[in-house]
Amino acid sequence: MKGSIQVDPTEQIAAIDNRIYGSFIEQLGRAVYEGIYQPEHPAADEDGFRKDVIAAVRQLKVPIIRYPGGNFVSQYNWEDGIGPKDERPTRLNLAWRQIETNQFGLHEFMKWAEKAGAKANMAVNLGTRGIEDAAHLVEYCNFPRGTYYSDLRRRNGRSQPFAIHTWCLGNEMDGPWEIGMQTANEYGHLANETAKAMKRVDESIELVACGSSSIENPTFGEWEKTVLDQCYDNVDYLSLHRYYGYYNDDDPAELDNYLGKNIDLNQFIKGVVAICDAVKARKRTKKTINLSFDEWNVWYHSNKADTRIKPWQTAPHLLEDIYNFEDALLVGSLLITLLKNSDRVKIACLAQLVNVIAPIMTENDGGVWQQSIFYPFLQVADYGRGVALSSHVETETYHSREFDAVPFLDSIAVYNDNAAEVVVFAENKSQTETLDFTINFKELRPVSIAEATQFAGYAPKADNRDGRMRIRPLTDVRLNNSEAAATLQPLSWNMFRFKL
Ligand code: AHR
Repeated sequence: MKGSIQVDPTEQIAAIDNRIYGSFIEQLGRAVYEGIYQPEHPAADEDGFRKDVIAAVRQLKVPIIRYPGGNFVSQYNWEDGIGPKDERPTRLNLAWRQIETNQFGLHEFMKWAEKAGAKANMAVNLGTRGIEDAAHLVEYCNFPRGTYYSDLRRRNGRSQPFAIHTWCLGNEMDGPWEIGMQTANEYGHLANETAKAMKRVDESIELVACGSSSIENPTFGEWEKTVLDQCYDNVDYLSLHRYYGYYNDDDPAELDNYLGKNIDLNQFIKGVVAICDAVKARKRTKKTINLSFDEWNVWYHSNKADTRIKPWQTAPHLLEDIYNFEDALLVGSLLITLLKNSDRVKIACLAQLVNVIAPIMTENDGGVWQQSIFYPFLQVADYGRGVALSSHVETETYHSREFDAVPFLDSIAVYNDNAAEVVVFAENKSQTETLDFTINFKELRPVSIAEATQFAGYAPKADNRDGRMRIRPLTDVRLNNSEAAATLQPLSWNMFRFKL
Protein backbone atom coordinates (compact mmCIF):
# COMPACT_ATOMS: atom_id res chain seq x y z
CA MET A 1 0.00 0.00 0.00
CA LYS A 2 1.10 3.57 -0.69
CA GLY A 3 0.51 6.87 1.08
CA SER A 4 1.94 10.37 1.05
CA ILE A 5 1.95 13.73 2.73
CA GLN A 6 2.65 17.14 1.21
CA VAL A 7 4.61 19.49 3.44
CA ASP A 8 3.96 23.06 2.40
CA PRO A 9 5.08 25.76 4.87
CA THR A 10 2.67 28.25 3.37
CA GLU A 11 -0.34 26.05 4.20
CA GLN A 12 -0.55 26.71 7.92
CA ILE A 13 -3.27 25.62 10.32
CA ALA A 14 -1.97 27.64 13.29
CA ALA A 15 0.91 28.27 15.62
CA ILE A 16 0.53 25.44 18.12
CA ASP A 17 -0.27 26.59 21.64
CA ASN A 18 2.01 24.36 23.73
CA ARG A 19 -0.75 24.01 26.30
CA ILE A 20 -2.25 21.47 23.90
CA TYR A 21 0.20 19.06 25.64
CA GLY A 22 -1.32 19.63 29.06
CA SER A 23 -2.43 16.97 31.50
CA PHE A 24 -4.52 16.50 34.60
CA ILE A 25 -4.08 15.51 38.25
CA GLU A 26 -7.23 14.90 40.27
CA GLN A 27 -7.52 14.06 43.97
CA LEU A 28 -8.68 10.62 42.92
CA GLY A 29 -7.40 7.07 43.38
CA ARG A 30 -3.62 7.02 43.62
CA ALA A 31 -2.97 10.08 41.47
CA VAL A 32 -1.90 12.23 44.42
CA TYR A 33 -1.41 9.89 47.38
CA GLU A 34 1.03 7.11 46.40
CA GLY A 35 1.39 8.87 43.03
CA ILE A 36 2.98 12.28 43.05
CA TYR A 37 3.02 12.55 46.88
CA GLN A 38 4.37 9.75 49.05
CA PRO A 39 6.51 11.12 51.91
CA GLU A 40 7.44 7.66 53.18
CA HIS A 41 8.78 6.48 49.81
CA PRO A 42 12.60 6.25 49.40
CA ALA A 43 12.38 8.45 46.26
CA ALA A 44 10.50 11.24 48.10
CA ASP A 45 12.12 14.67 48.34
CA GLU A 46 11.99 17.08 51.29
CA ASP A 47 8.36 17.94 50.39
CA GLY A 48 7.22 14.35 50.13
CA PHE A 49 7.07 14.47 46.31
CA ARG A 50 8.36 11.45 44.46
CA LYS A 51 11.43 12.49 42.50
CA ASP A 52 11.09 9.56 40.12
CA VAL A 53 7.58 10.76 39.19
CA ILE A 54 8.74 14.34 38.72
CA ALA A 55 11.49 13.08 36.40
CA ALA A 56 8.95 11.15 34.29
CA VAL A 57 6.57 14.14 34.13
CA ARG A 58 9.46 16.40 33.11
CA GLN A 59 10.31 13.94 30.36
CA LEU A 60 6.81 14.47 28.94
CA LYS A 61 7.35 18.27 29.04
CA VAL A 62 3.80 18.83 30.27
CA PRO A 63 3.32 22.61 30.22
CA ILE A 64 0.06 22.91 32.17
CA ILE A 65 -1.78 20.63 34.61
CA ARG A 66 -5.45 20.82 35.52
CA TYR A 67 -6.17 20.40 39.24
CA PRO A 68 -7.83 19.36 41.63
CA GLY A 69 -10.62 17.82 39.51
CA GLY A 70 -12.58 16.51 37.74
CA ASN A 71 -15.61 15.36 39.65
CA PHE A 72 -13.71 15.85 42.90
CA VAL A 73 -13.74 19.63 42.61
CA SER A 74 -17.53 19.88 42.69
CA GLN A 75 -17.58 19.17 46.41
CA TYR A 76 -14.13 20.43 47.39
CA ASN A 77 -13.38 23.11 49.98
CA TRP A 78 -10.02 24.46 48.92
CA GLU A 79 -9.55 25.88 52.44
CA ASP A 80 -9.33 22.30 53.75
CA GLY A 81 -6.02 21.88 51.95
CA ILE A 82 -4.16 24.93 53.27
CA GLY A 83 -2.43 25.71 56.57
CA PRO A 84 -0.66 23.38 59.01
CA LYS A 85 -1.08 19.80 57.86
CA ASP A 86 -1.97 18.49 61.32
CA GLU A 87 -4.93 20.87 61.47
CA ARG A 88 -6.42 19.92 58.12
CA PRO A 89 -9.71 18.01 58.23
CA THR A 90 -10.16 14.52 56.86
CA ARG A 91 -13.23 14.50 54.62
CA LEU A 92 -15.37 12.20 52.55
CA ASN A 93 -14.60 12.58 48.86
CA LEU A 94 -18.16 12.05 47.61
CA ALA A 95 -17.24 12.04 43.93
CA TRP A 96 -15.12 8.91 44.25
CA ARG A 97 -16.25 7.62 47.66
CA GLN A 98 -12.77 7.64 49.10
CA ILE A 99 -11.19 9.34 52.11
CA GLU A 100 -9.48 12.69 51.55
CA THR A 101 -6.91 13.49 54.23
CA ASN A 102 -6.10 16.91 52.76
CA GLN A 103 -2.42 16.36 53.43
CA PHE A 104 -1.92 17.50 49.86
CA GLY A 105 -3.59 20.77 48.88
CA LEU A 106 -3.11 24.01 47.03
CA HIS A 107 0.40 24.92 48.20
CA GLU A 108 1.65 21.38 47.75
CA PHE A 109 0.23 21.23 44.23
CA MET A 110 1.72 24.56 43.21
CA LYS A 111 5.11 23.60 44.56
CA TRP A 112 4.96 20.21 42.91
CA ALA A 113 3.88 21.70 39.56
CA GLU A 114 6.79 24.12 39.69
CA LYS A 115 9.20 21.24 40.31
CA ALA A 116 7.58 19.35 37.43
CA GLY A 117 8.01 22.37 35.13
CA ALA A 118 4.27 22.96 34.64
CA LYS A 119 1.77 25.75 35.20
CA ALA A 120 -1.56 25.21 36.93
CA ASN A 121 -4.98 25.10 35.32
CA MET A 122 -7.04 25.55 38.48
CA ALA A 123 -10.66 24.44 38.73
CA VAL A 124 -13.13 26.06 41.10
CA ASN A 125 -16.06 24.34 42.79
CA LEU A 126 -19.34 25.33 41.12
CA GLY A 127 -21.17 22.24 42.39
CA THR A 128 -21.63 22.87 46.10
CA ARG A 129 -20.08 26.34 46.23
CA GLY A 130 -20.04 29.34 43.95
CA ILE A 131 -19.24 32.98 43.26
CA GLU A 132 -17.85 34.08 46.60
CA ASP A 133 -15.69 31.03 47.17
CA ALA A 134 -14.23 31.23 43.66
CA ALA A 135 -13.41 34.93 44.05
CA HIS A 136 -11.74 34.21 47.40
CA LEU A 137 -9.62 31.53 45.79
CA VAL A 138 -8.41 33.93 43.08
CA GLU A 139 -7.67 36.49 45.79
CA TYR A 140 -5.75 33.86 47.78
CA CYS A 141 -3.71 32.79 44.77
CA ASN A 142 -3.21 35.97 42.78
CA PHE A 143 -3.65 39.07 44.93
CA PRO A 144 -0.31 40.45 46.15
CA ARG A 145 -0.96 41.40 49.79
CA GLY A 146 -2.94 43.45 52.30
CA THR A 147 -6.28 41.62 52.15
CA TYR A 148 -7.68 38.76 54.20
CA TYR A 149 -7.01 35.97 51.68
CA SER A 150 -3.75 37.27 50.23
CA ASP A 151 -2.34 37.69 53.74
CA LEU A 152 -3.56 34.23 54.66
CA ARG A 153 -1.54 32.87 51.75
CA ARG A 154 1.48 34.79 52.96
CA ARG A 155 1.06 33.43 56.50
CA ASN A 156 0.89 29.96 54.97
CA GLY A 157 4.36 30.42 53.58
CA ARG A 158 3.94 31.86 50.10
CA SER A 159 4.76 35.57 49.96
CA GLN A 160 4.59 35.99 46.18
CA PRO A 161 1.25 35.41 44.43
CA PHE A 162 0.93 32.08 42.64
CA ALA A 163 -0.18 34.09 39.59
CA ILE A 164 -2.43 31.36 38.18
CA HIS A 165 -3.54 32.40 34.72
CA THR A 166 -5.95 29.67 33.58
CA TRP A 167 -9.06 28.67 35.56
CA CYS A 168 -11.91 26.22 34.97
CA LEU A 169 -15.42 27.25 35.98
CA GLY A 170 -16.42 23.94 37.54
CA ASN A 171 -16.39 20.50 35.99
CA GLU A 172 -18.93 18.53 33.91
CA MET A 173 -21.85 20.45 35.38
CA ASP A 174 -24.27 18.73 32.97
CA GLY A 175 -23.43 15.26 34.33
CA PRO A 176 -26.00 13.47 36.53
CA TRP A 177 -23.04 11.98 38.47
CA GLU A 178 -21.71 15.41 39.36
CA ILE A 179 -22.36 16.71 42.86
CA GLY A 180 -24.39 19.87 42.23
CA MET A 181 -25.36 19.11 38.62
CA GLN A 182 -27.21 21.97 36.93
CA THR A 183 -29.35 22.73 33.94
CA ALA A 184 -27.69 24.66 31.13
CA ASN A 185 -29.54 27.81 32.15
CA GLU A 186 -28.52 27.51 35.76
CA TYR A 187 -24.90 26.79 34.93
CA GLY A 188 -24.67 29.49 32.24
CA HIS A 189 -25.91 32.07 34.73
CA LEU A 190 -23.62 30.87 37.53
CA ALA A 191 -20.59 30.64 35.22
CA ASN A 192 -21.17 34.19 34.04
CA GLU A 193 -21.58 35.66 37.52
CA THR A 194 -18.58 33.71 38.85
CA ALA A 195 -16.47 34.76 35.87
CA LYS A 196 -17.35 38.41 36.51
CA ALA A 197 -16.32 38.19 40.15
CA MET A 198 -13.10 36.26 39.46
CA LYS A 199 -12.05 38.72 36.75
CA ARG A 200 -12.76 41.65 39.06
CA VAL A 201 -10.18 40.22 41.46
CA ASP A 202 -7.67 39.68 38.66
CA GLU A 203 -8.57 40.86 35.17
CA SER A 204 -5.56 39.13 33.63
CA ILE A 205 -6.90 35.60 34.19
CA GLU A 206 -8.57 33.49 31.52
CA LEU A 207 -11.54 31.27 32.10
CA VAL A 208 -12.83 27.99 30.74
CA ALA A 209 -16.58 27.35 30.84
CA CYS A 210 -17.85 23.76 30.95
CA GLY A 211 -19.08 22.34 27.69
CA SER A 212 -20.92 19.01 27.73
CA SER A 213 -19.24 16.22 29.65
CA SER A 214 -19.70 14.04 26.59
CA ILE A 215 -21.04 14.30 23.05
CA GLU A 216 -23.29 11.39 24.06
CA ASN A 217 -25.01 13.39 26.75
CA PRO A 218 -28.59 14.09 25.46
CA THR A 219 -28.21 17.81 26.10
CA PHE A 220 -25.04 18.10 23.97
CA GLY A 221 -25.30 21.05 21.61
CA GLU A 222 -28.17 22.70 23.41
CA TRP A 223 -25.97 22.90 26.51
CA GLU A 224 -23.09 24.63 24.67
CA LYS A 225 -25.44 27.14 23.05
CA THR A 226 -27.38 27.97 26.21
CA VAL A 227 -24.27 28.27 28.38
CA LEU A 228 -22.41 30.46 25.89
CA ASP A 229 -25.48 32.63 25.32
CA GLN A 230 -25.12 33.67 28.94
CA CYS A 231 -21.39 33.80 29.63
CA TYR A 232 -19.82 34.48 26.21
CA ASP A 233 -18.45 37.91 27.09
CA ASN A 234 -16.80 36.84 30.32
CA VAL A 235 -15.16 33.53 29.39
CA ASP A 236 -12.36 32.63 27.00
CA TYR A 237 -12.67 28.92 26.30
CA LEU A 238 -15.29 26.20 26.22
CA SER A 239 -14.30 22.74 27.46
CA LEU A 240 -14.68 19.35 25.77
CA HIS A 241 -14.24 15.92 27.34
CA ARG A 242 -13.95 12.60 25.49
CA TYR A 243 -12.82 9.13 26.51
CA TYR A 244 -12.62 6.14 24.18
CA GLY A 245 -13.28 2.53 25.02
CA TYR A 246 -13.08 -0.75 23.16
CA TYR A 247 -15.45 -3.34 24.43
CA ASN A 248 -15.22 -6.34 22.10
CA ASP A 249 -11.52 -6.67 22.09
CA ASP A 250 -11.15 -10.14 20.59
CA ASP A 251 -12.44 -9.18 17.17
CA PRO A 252 -9.82 -7.80 14.72
CA ALA A 253 -12.56 -5.87 12.89
CA GLU A 254 -13.21 -4.02 16.12
CA LEU A 255 -9.57 -2.98 16.24
CA ASP A 256 -10.02 -1.40 12.79
CA ASN A 257 -12.98 0.46 14.17
CA TYR A 258 -11.17 1.46 17.36
CA LEU A 259 -8.29 2.97 15.44
CA GLY A 260 -10.79 5.12 13.53
CA LYS A 261 -12.06 6.84 16.67
CA ASN A 262 -10.02 9.96 15.89
CA ILE A 263 -12.68 10.63 13.22
CA ASP A 264 -15.20 10.91 16.05
CA LEU A 265 -12.86 13.29 17.89
CA ASN A 266 -12.52 15.45 14.80
CA GLN A 267 -16.30 15.61 14.29
CA PHE A 268 -16.80 16.46 17.94
CA ILE A 269 -14.33 19.36 17.78
CA LYS A 270 -15.76 20.69 14.51
CA GLY A 271 -19.29 20.51 15.97
CA VAL A 272 -18.36 22.48 19.09
CA VAL A 273 -16.49 25.06 16.99
CA ALA A 274 -19.63 25.48 14.87
CA ILE A 275 -21.76 26.09 17.96
CA CYS A 276 -19.28 28.61 19.40
CA ASP A 277 -19.23 30.46 16.10
CA ALA A 278 -23.01 30.39 15.74
CA VAL A 279 -23.31 32.09 19.14
CA LYS A 280 -20.62 34.55 18.03
CA ALA A 281 -22.58 35.40 14.88
CA ARG A 282 -25.84 35.84 16.78
CA LYS A 283 -24.13 38.11 19.28
CA ARG A 284 -22.51 40.12 16.47
CA THR A 285 -19.27 40.12 18.42
CA LYS A 286 -15.65 40.05 17.28
CA LYS A 287 -14.62 37.84 20.17
CA THR A 288 -13.91 34.18 19.34
CA ILE A 289 -14.27 31.43 21.90
CA ASN A 290 -11.55 28.79 21.58
CA LEU A 291 -11.54 25.28 22.97
CA SER A 292 -9.99 23.66 25.99
CA PHE A 293 -10.09 19.90 25.46
CA ASP A 294 -9.41 19.45 29.12
CA GLU A 295 -10.06 15.70 29.39
CA TRP A 296 -9.19 13.17 26.70
CA ASN A 297 -7.82 9.64 26.68
CA VAL A 298 -8.67 5.96 26.50
CA TRP A 299 -10.64 4.80 29.56
CA TYR A 300 -12.28 1.40 29.82
CA HIS A 301 -9.85 -1.28 31.00
CA SER A 302 -10.42 -0.61 34.69
CA ASN A 303 -14.21 -0.28 34.65
CA LYS A 304 -14.95 -3.79 35.91
CA ALA A 305 -12.20 -3.82 38.55
CA ASP A 306 -13.43 -0.48 39.90
CA THR A 307 -16.82 -1.96 40.79
CA ARG A 308 -15.03 -4.31 43.22
CA ILE A 309 -13.11 -1.60 45.07
CA LYS A 310 -14.35 -1.01 48.60
CA PRO A 311 -15.33 2.59 49.38
CA TRP A 312 -13.67 4.89 51.90
CA GLN A 313 -10.03 4.04 51.41
CA THR A 314 -7.37 6.78 51.21
CA ALA A 315 -5.62 5.77 48.02
CA PRO A 316 -7.70 3.12 46.26
CA HIS A 317 -6.49 1.62 42.99
CA LEU A 318 -9.25 3.36 41.04
CA LEU A 319 -9.24 3.92 37.27
CA GLU A 320 -5.90 2.13 36.88
CA ASP A 321 -6.21 1.26 33.21
CA ILE A 322 -3.31 -0.82 31.93
CA TYR A 323 -2.83 0.39 28.38
CA ASN A 324 -1.81 -1.80 25.49
CA PHE A 325 -0.22 -1.13 22.14
CA GLU A 326 -3.48 -0.47 20.29
CA ASP A 327 -4.30 2.21 22.87
CA ALA A 328 -0.96 3.86 22.12
CA LEU A 329 -1.84 3.89 18.40
CA LEU A 330 -5.19 5.50 19.13
CA VAL A 331 -3.58 8.10 21.41
CA GLY A 332 -1.10 8.91 18.61
CA SER A 333 -3.96 9.44 16.19
CA LEU A 334 -5.89 11.56 18.70
CA LEU A 335 -2.81 13.76 19.12
CA ILE A 336 -2.60 14.23 15.35
CA THR A 337 -6.28 15.21 15.37
CA LEU A 338 -5.73 17.77 18.12
CA LEU A 339 -2.87 19.25 16.07
CA LYS A 340 -5.08 19.35 12.99
CA ASN A 341 -7.51 21.44 15.02
CA SER A 342 -4.88 23.61 16.68
CA ASP A 343 -6.44 26.74 15.18
CA ARG A 344 -9.20 26.36 17.78
CA VAL A 345 -7.94 23.87 20.38
CA LYS A 346 -5.59 25.94 22.48
CA ILE A 347 -5.51 23.86 25.66
CA ALA A 348 -5.82 20.09 25.99
CA CYS A 349 -5.27 17.81 28.97
CA LEU A 350 -4.42 14.16 28.65
CA ALA A 351 -6.52 12.71 31.46
CA GLN A 352 -4.83 11.92 33.59
CA LEU A 353 -1.10 11.96 34.39
CA VAL A 354 -0.17 9.54 37.18
CA ASN A 355 -1.79 6.18 38.09
CA VAL A 356 -5.35 7.24 37.20
CA ILE A 357 -5.91 6.51 33.46
CA ALA A 358 -2.34 7.65 33.10
CA PRO A 359 0.83 7.37 31.05
CA ILE A 360 2.91 7.18 34.26
CA MET A 361 2.40 4.47 36.89
CA THR A 362 3.97 4.05 40.30
CA GLU A 363 4.63 0.99 42.42
CA ASN A 364 4.00 1.70 46.08
CA ASP A 365 7.23 0.08 47.18
CA GLY A 366 9.01 0.29 43.86
CA GLY A 367 9.67 2.67 41.00
CA VAL A 368 7.87 4.26 38.12
CA TRP A 369 6.93 2.66 34.82
CA GLN A 370 5.73 4.05 31.55
CA GLN A 371 2.56 2.85 29.88
CA SER A 372 2.36 2.29 26.11
CA ILE A 373 0.55 5.62 25.63
CA PHE A 374 3.53 7.44 27.17
CA TYR A 375 5.53 7.05 23.96
CA PRO A 376 3.47 8.83 21.27
CA PHE A 377 2.65 11.56 23.78
CA LEU A 378 6.36 11.95 24.59
CA GLN A 379 7.27 12.46 20.95
CA VAL A 380 4.45 14.80 20.00
CA ALA A 381 4.88 16.91 23.16
CA ASP A 382 8.61 17.10 22.53
CA TYR A 383 8.68 17.73 18.78
CA GLY A 384 5.18 18.88 17.87
CA ARG A 385 6.14 22.47 18.57
CA GLY A 386 5.90 25.30 16.08
CA VAL A 387 3.31 25.67 13.33
CA ALA A 388 0.93 22.87 12.38
CA LEU A 389 0.75 22.55 8.59
CA SER A 390 -2.42 21.56 6.83
CA SER A 391 -0.41 18.90 5.02
CA HIS A 392 -2.49 17.14 2.36
CA VAL A 393 -2.46 13.37 2.95
CA GLU A 394 -3.15 10.77 0.24
CA THR A 395 -4.07 7.32 1.41
CA GLU A 396 -6.42 4.42 0.87
CA THR A 397 -9.26 4.08 3.32
CA TYR A 398 -11.17 1.23 4.94
CA HIS A 399 -14.70 0.77 6.15
CA SER A 400 -15.40 -0.08 9.79
CA ARG A 401 -18.47 -0.62 11.97
CA GLU A 402 -18.85 3.07 12.82
CA PHE A 403 -16.85 4.84 10.14
CA ASP A 404 -17.28 4.78 6.35
CA ALA A 405 -13.77 5.75 5.34
CA VAL A 406 -10.92 5.48 7.83
CA PRO A 407 -7.61 6.57 6.26
CA PHE A 408 -4.97 3.87 6.65
CA LEU A 409 -2.39 6.64 6.92
CA ASP A 410 -2.82 9.34 9.54
CA SER A 411 -0.18 12.05 9.33
CA ILE A 412 0.66 15.68 10.00
CA ALA A 413 3.69 17.92 9.58
CA VAL A 414 4.87 20.57 12.03
CA TYR A 415 7.18 23.39 10.98
CA ASN A 416 9.53 24.46 13.77
CA ASP A 417 11.31 27.65 12.76
CA ASN A 418 13.23 27.96 16.06
CA ALA A 419 14.78 24.53 15.73
CA ALA A 420 15.04 24.81 11.91
CA GLU A 421 13.15 21.54 11.57
CA VAL A 422 10.15 19.98 9.96
CA VAL A 423 8.68 17.11 11.91
CA VAL A 424 6.29 14.56 10.41
CA PHE A 425 4.20 12.18 12.52
CA ALA A 426 2.71 9.23 10.65
CA GLU A 427 0.67 6.22 11.68
CA ASN A 428 -0.09 3.16 9.59
CA LYS A 429 -3.38 1.65 10.78
CA SER A 430 -3.28 -1.45 8.60
CA GLN A 431 -3.06 -4.61 10.66
CA THR A 432 -1.41 -6.53 7.85
CA GLU A 433 0.20 -4.30 5.20
CA THR A 434 3.30 -2.17 5.16
CA LEU A 435 2.84 1.33 3.75
CA ASP A 436 5.25 2.93 1.28
CA PHE A 437 5.28 6.45 2.64
CA THR A 438 6.39 9.48 0.66
CA ILE A 439 6.91 12.95 2.09
CA ASN A 440 6.78 15.65 -0.59
CA PHE A 441 8.34 18.95 0.37
CA LYS A 442 6.98 22.05 -1.31
CA GLU A 443 9.41 24.97 -1.19
CA LEU A 444 11.39 23.48 1.69
CA ARG A 445 14.61 21.61 0.99
CA PRO A 446 15.65 19.64 4.07
CA VAL A 447 19.37 19.08 4.27
CA SER A 448 19.36 16.01 6.49
CA ILE A 449 17.35 13.56 8.53
CA ALA A 450 17.88 14.41 12.20
CA GLU A 451 15.90 11.42 13.42
CA ALA A 452 13.50 8.78 12.15
CA THR A 453 11.79 6.48 14.64
CA GLN A 454 9.10 3.85 14.83
CA PHE A 455 6.97 2.45 17.62
CA ALA A 456 5.98 -0.87 16.13
CA GLY A 457 6.22 -4.62 16.25
CA TYR A 458 4.13 -5.20 19.38
CA ALA A 459 1.02 -7.36 19.57
CA PRO A 460 -2.07 -5.13 19.80
CA LYS A 461 -2.85 -6.46 23.28
CA ALA A 462 0.72 -6.19 24.60
CA ASP A 463 1.20 -3.79 27.47
CA ASN A 464 4.35 -2.37 29.02
CA ARG A 465 4.23 -3.84 32.51
CA ASP A 466 7.52 -5.58 31.76
CA GLY A 467 9.08 -2.28 30.65
CA ARG A 468 10.16 -3.62 27.28
CA MET A 469 8.42 -1.18 24.97
CA ARG A 470 10.78 1.13 23.14
CA ILE A 471 10.76 3.68 20.37
CA ARG A 472 13.31 2.38 17.89
CA PRO A 473 15.14 3.89 14.95
CA LEU A 474 13.43 3.61 11.59
CA THR A 475 16.11 2.69 9.12
CA ASP A 476 16.28 2.98 5.36
CA VAL A 477 14.73 6.44 5.13
CA ARG A 478 15.69 8.07 1.84
CA LEU A 479 15.94 11.85 1.46
CA ASN A 480 16.35 13.16 -2.03
CA ASN A 481 16.05 16.89 -2.52
CA SER A 482 12.30 17.50 -2.34
CA GLU A 483 11.17 14.03 -1.33
CA ALA A 484 11.69 11.55 1.47
CA ALA A 485 10.54 7.94 1.52
CA ALA A 486 10.27 5.17 4.06
CA THR A 487 8.36 1.97 4.74
CA LEU A 488 5.90 2.09 7.63
CA GLN A 489 5.30 -1.22 9.39
CA PRO A 490 1.73 -2.47 9.88
CA LEU A 491 0.25 -0.97 13.05
CA SER A 492 3.04 1.54 13.56
CA TRP A 493 3.54 5.01 14.96
CA ASN A 494 6.42 6.88 13.27
CA MET A 495 8.21 10.19 13.57
CA PHE A 496 10.59 11.95 11.15
CA ARG A 497 12.64 15.04 11.95
CA PHE A 498 14.22 16.86 9.02
CA LYS A 499 16.83 19.57 9.44
CA LEU A 500 16.31 22.61 7.25
O1 AHR B 1 -10.92 11.75 34.63
C1 AHR B 1 -11.85 11.01 35.37
C2 AHR B 1 -13.19 11.70 35.46
O2 AHR B 1 -13.79 11.73 34.19
C3 AHR B 1 -13.20 13.14 35.88
O3 AHR B 1 -13.18 13.30 37.26
C4 AHR B 1 -14.48 13.66 35.31
O4 AHR B 1 -14.42 15.02 35.00
C5 AHR B 1 -14.72 12.78 34.10
O5 AHR B 1 -15.99 12.27 34.08
